Amino acid sequence: MFREADTAVRLSEYQPYDWLVDTVDLDFQLEPAATRVRATLAMRPNPKGRNQSPIVLDGDELALVSLRLDGRVLSATEYEASASSLTIKNPPQGKLTLEIETVINPSANTKLMGLFRSNKIYCTQCEAEGFRRITYFPDRPDVLSVYTVRIEADRDEAPFLLSNGNPVEAFGIPGSNRHYAIWHDPHPKPAYLFALVGGKLDYIEEPFKTVSGRKVMLRIFVDPDKTQLAHYAMDALKRSMRWDEKVFGCEYDLDVFHIVAVSDFNMGAMENKGLNIFNDKYVLASPETATDLDYENIEAIIAHEYFHNWTGNRITCRDWFQLCLKEGLTVFRDQEFSSDERSRPVERIGDVRRLKSFQFVEDAGPLAHPVRPETYREINNFYTVTVYEKGAEVVRMLKTLLGERGFRKGMDLYFKRHDGDAATIEDFLKCFADANKQDLSQFARWYSQAGTPELAVRGTHDAKARTYTLDIEQMVPPTPGQSAKQPMVIPLKLGLLDAKGRDIPLKDAKGNPVRDNLIVLDKPSQTFVFSGVKEKPAVSINRGFSAPVKISTNFGAANLLFLAKYDSDPFNRYDAVEQLAMQQLVASARGSNEPPAALIEALDNALDNSKLDDAFLAQLFSLPDESDIAQQIGKNIDPDAILVARRKIKHDIGMALKEKLVARYQKLTSHRRYSPDAKSAGQRALRNACLDLLAATGDTAEHKRAFTQFEHADNMTDRMAALAVLAQYAIPERETALAAFEQRYRNDPLVLDKWFAVQARIPESGTLDRVEALTKHPAFSMTNPNRMRSLIGVFAANPSQFNRADGKGYALIADTVLGLDSKNPQVAARLLSAFKSWRTLEPGRRALAEKELNRIAQTPGLSPDVADIVSRSFA
Ligand code: PHE
Ligand code: ZN
Repeated sequence: MFREADTAVRLSEYQPYDWLVDTVDLDFQLEPAATRVRATLAMRPNPKGRNQSPIVLDGDELALVSLRLDGRVLSATEYEASASSLTIKNPPQGKLTLEIETVINPSANTKLMGLFRSNKIYCTQCEAEGFRRITYFPDRPDVLSVYTVRIEADRDEAPFLLSNGNPVEAFGIPGSNRHYAIWHDPHPKPAYLFALVGGKLDYIEEPFKTVSGRKVMLRIFVDPDKTQLAHYAMDALKRSMRWDEKVFGCEYDLDVFHIVAVSDFNMGAMENKGLNIFNDKYVLASPETATDLDYENIEAIIAHEYFHNWTGNRITCRDWFQLCLKEGLTVFRDQEFSSDERSRPVERIGDVRRLKSFQFVEDAGPLAHPVRPETYREINNFYTVTVYEKGAEVVRMLKTLLGERGFRKGMDLYFKRHDGDAATIEDFLKCFADANKQDLSQFARWYSQAGTPELAVRGTHDAKARTYTLDIEQMVPPTPGQSAKQPMVIPLKLGLLDAKGRDIPLKDAKGNPVRDNLIVLDKPSQTFVFSGVKEKPAVSINRGFSAPVKISTNFGAANLLFLAKYDSDPFNRYDAVEQLAMQQLVASARGSNEPPAALIEALDNALDNSKLDDAFLAQLFSLPDESDIAQQIGKNIDPDAILVARRKIKHDIGMALKEKLVARYQKLTSHRRYSPDAKSAGQRALRNACLDLLAATGDTAEHKRAFTQFEHADNMTDRMAALAVLAQYAIPERETALAAFEQRYRNDPLVLDKWFAVQARIPESGTLDRVEALTKHPAFSMTNPNRMRSLIGVFAANPSQFNRADGKGYALIADTVLGLDSKNPQVAARLLSAFKSWRTLEPGRRALAEKELNRIAQTPGLSPDVADIVSRSFA
């Protein structure tokens, strides 16, 4: 049923590859169903490898057409070829040339790995192990080669032919309808960064001059007639390039930088050297079709892929266990970019919300794994929120511990020491240790220990001694394969507030100032004494979310309300409101009828505070969602009780603050032309948060208000926000609006995704039937990952409906996973991970979820992707 345990790959068993591949020459004859690939590899024994070894190359669903070694056709006894590998048994132990010919079928490639076609465009995806679906090759990130690529194709079918690096030449082929292009990438790279694109495209271009004067041409290629939708992405690209020069000293290194947007893509985007390939969702935008969140995501992902040019490409990973070396670091870099381009506090709040909503859940369930895993059976399943988001938090803590300058010194050394390398986490940390003369060996546990650390904090004030004492215990919960944990290095920023809400200058027991208001935990239990504290202070701990941990304290609810009003740290001010809301929501889900007085007081106070900006207020006014509440409750979860509790509290807030919310809504109604900038986006976000709370009063006039906004909106943000509000209520306006939306955007697949998603999110029992009916909609496609995620993926994330008490939600997802598995196992496996919190449910639902997991586990012929997730789900 599952792959044998011994097919697991282990970090501890890493061996360098026995051969070097200095250059790779690829020759593609593009044909829809039979593309011929000729690969010429210049190889020699790796001095660091074993002697006298055969050449073993990876393949995946390949058929060998011909094979030559130094020009000579090999006889059948000299090699062994299968769909998944090619072995040259006794190669000469010196420089040699292998010529390998394969034929592949891009049109039949529904896995979207290797060479496939999307909307008639030929394109590739090679990370992590897709290159082996193109040709036999040592498909591992520590084999770096210089690539030259010749692509030949029909001129009409594929007028544009692109690959990595710089263009060398492009010509028509006389006497035929074919043409070719040659590309050369001077930077040695692993195969996962190879890319090729061929097709009918349009593009926009802009010149860019790097800080040292290199002239680069930037181009974004899109489907014909979509160029007007690519300008925001181009703008984000230029800003990213400038920012990376300024903040990290990283300059671009080729003559061109190309981005291609395609509509069938498993992930968000891919950082192939000089030729980034994007899910078109993260390139195309206009005010009429994209929301503020879409713009924000486009900016962040364009930046993320561009930043990989140094953190990922110039310095790559030795093996896939080191994935966080490029991903965690690059997420940290894109978060910093967004903070600089937008509002730092609001960016931080958003990043932490995502971390807590998704990564904390992963870390608490059966799929928990360290930021750097130590074993895997299917690497595709490790592109996780833990590797990406927790990985970014670890880099952020490094910066907090070393300070701005110390961090930059470490990064500079990393770029200098490892440029051109396939590096490890140890290499990375050593740069920071060396540059700062610090021992980071205990800190390194953040990479090896899974689970979210939990802190128990007790504060005591001694009026006589004028001291404030914090007793802190840390505990890391057990996770699959890791029962006992060692203490972590935890940087905590904190503040003590006096009765007027002002920060008391922090001094240690000896009266010395506490640098950066930072304390660092490194033992199971520790005591910190602060001196010169006359009165009992309010305590603001883990400011800015300086460490990704869960904290319980004895500070009490009054402390939270005080922080909500006065904390100088914007993150903790937000977090205090969030915690007040959470306490109320959890109590209510458990049956309490206590009105949310403190929460309402905090929100009311915030509305009156003219110093708080709109985007920040919008965060305060959007309550924790149902899955956050479930996470907080932790066990025996009843999703319906949570839904009811959340509705009730929204209703109470809407009623209590009605006049102020109406006034704010009206004040924020803008008649200016739409602009996606952060300030205008913040105004819309707050206005739409007001609308949501007003509608929660149940007042028909408020539902009308939402409908009017839907009808008159001049941008997608406001239209979609109104539709999302209407969707929560079984009112006639909902169906009217849904029908109007479909009519208006029926030819725009990316907009229809929003329409699918808003319906899959409806918290009503009719949603299951609605979703099933929508799978037959002409615009829906099971094999397009965006369509699939917006309908089925969103349904699987609808807490009350996926977790229906009758188990039909689980059955729908299980059926979809099984139906999709043979076509696109990566997307199927990701969908299956919706079950990751099944053990926290109340017994009835838990049993029904388990039954579906068992049904999947017992299905013969599962992909390694789905087999891996389903088996780990039982941990
Ligand atoms: N490396 C890509 C990124 O984060 C993600 C990705 C992984 C894309 C695997 C495709 C396949 O930027
Ligand atoms: Zn990335």
